[in-house]
Amino acid sequence: MRLLVYCLIGLLFISHDGYCVPSRLFDLVGELVDATKGALGSIPSLIPTPEEFFSLSKNTFIGLPNQVVFAFFNQFCNMALNSNSVFVKKKFTPKLDEMSFILHSKSSSISIPLMKPDEMWKHPEFNTSNPLVIFVTGWKTNLKEEASQAQNVMAAAYMCRGNVNFVTLDTAAFIDTLYTWSAFNTQTIGEYLSKAVQKLVESSFPLEFIHLMGHSLGAQICGAAGRHFNQNTQLLIARITGLDSANPCFNNGGVLEGLFRGDAAFVDVIHTNPGVLGKKEAIGDIDFFCNGVSPLQPGSFDVSSSHGRAWKYYAESVYPGNENNFLARECTSITALNNNNCLGPLIPMGYATPNTTKGNYFLNTNSKSPYGEHSRRDHQPVCV
Ligand SMILES: *[C@@H]1O[C@H](CO)[C@@H](O)[C@H](O)[C@H]1NC(C)=O
Ligand SMILES: *[C@@H]1O[C@H](CO)[C@@H](O)[C@H](O)[C@H]1NC(C)=O
Repeated sequence: MRLLVYCLIGLLFISHDGYCVPSRLFDLVGELVDATKGALGSIPSLIPTPEEFFSLSKNTFIGLPNQVVFAFFNQFCNMALNSNSVFVKKKFTPKLDEMSFILHSKSSSISIPLMKPDEMWKHPEFNTSNPLVIFVTGWKTNLKEEASQAQNVMAAAYMCRGNVNFVTLDTAAFIDTLYTWSAFNTQTIGEYLSKAVQKLVESSFPLEFIHLMGHSLGAQICGAAGRHFNQNTQLLIARITGLDSANPCFNNGGVLEGLFRGDAAFVDVIHTNPGVLGKKEAIGDIDFFCNGVSPLQPGSFDVSSSHGRAWKYYAESVYPGNENNFLARECTSITALNNNNCLGPLIPMGYATPNTTKGNYFLNTNSKSPYGEHSRRDHQPVCV
């Protein structure tokens, strides 16, 4: 059945796809019509799994109108979310009691259950004199490696900087069901993340020390956490950074709310795959549009690797001496920026973004590491 969806996409955009028989396309269209009428039992099996989704995006969509393909996917997602089917709710509830935080130190990674955050806040490796950064990964993006790669790269950068409690919440293994249900789970996981942070704040850890950041669905989890935290405490988490916040399924006025300004005292967002896997709209206090609003980053030839650039750019900016690698100006488009029509102050994207800045900022990047246009290629970060 899933194949049929692919065929539909294939027939719409590729003229010769050996797999697809036009008459079966009509069956599928019929099924979609049934689905919209409420006969939703078959919908879950129609939606690609994240892995299929990404391999499709890699292999099939190159050079094709991604926005159109993902709009179609989004449509499926909405139907499924609106279905309220019991099957959906039962099958895809996240296994919260199996999820863990990882507290990173230079010498070890300590795993602590999501449901027992006190164990982390009281752990000897947690230094209450230092700020806390919690990085939430998305689902197993880019076919497995990426979520763990993102955690390790970000952890290495923060360990290099030092004087920080760096924690990851790797949700990949648990939201690696169908994307739709993964998206649905962001609200629940966000609620538990918020409960953990509340415990910490109750133990008089300074609120201004708390920074959540997430890639893709992880950004949506952080947004949900920020809103829960605010509802329960009337306070705001100091900062939430959205690294190319997930786009499909998160629609204005839809069932799922995504990260938005107001979810923390300061919300900064880095866009690297706008309109496809990442959100295109300005949703933060400050939004950085890297290389404009085109879905592909320089040196990247598929949407998922462009989606991953957001955490790569951020991690690069964390290393001591790299704070100003990515300098952006407030502007309306990358063309206007490159024609010198935007002459406001340069603002650093990433680690050093000042929490008072607001607006839409644009910048160019390099096509390979170091990505920051202002990086000094002779500079090697020094870690103590
Ligand atoms: C905790 O961090 C502070 C400030 O960064 C540092 O001075 C102190 O030595 C650290 N404590 C431990 C036990 O590492
Ligand atoms: C910005 O950060 C400073 C220092 O942590 C804090 O005092 C201030 O309240 C923050 N402002 C906003 C808007 O988050």
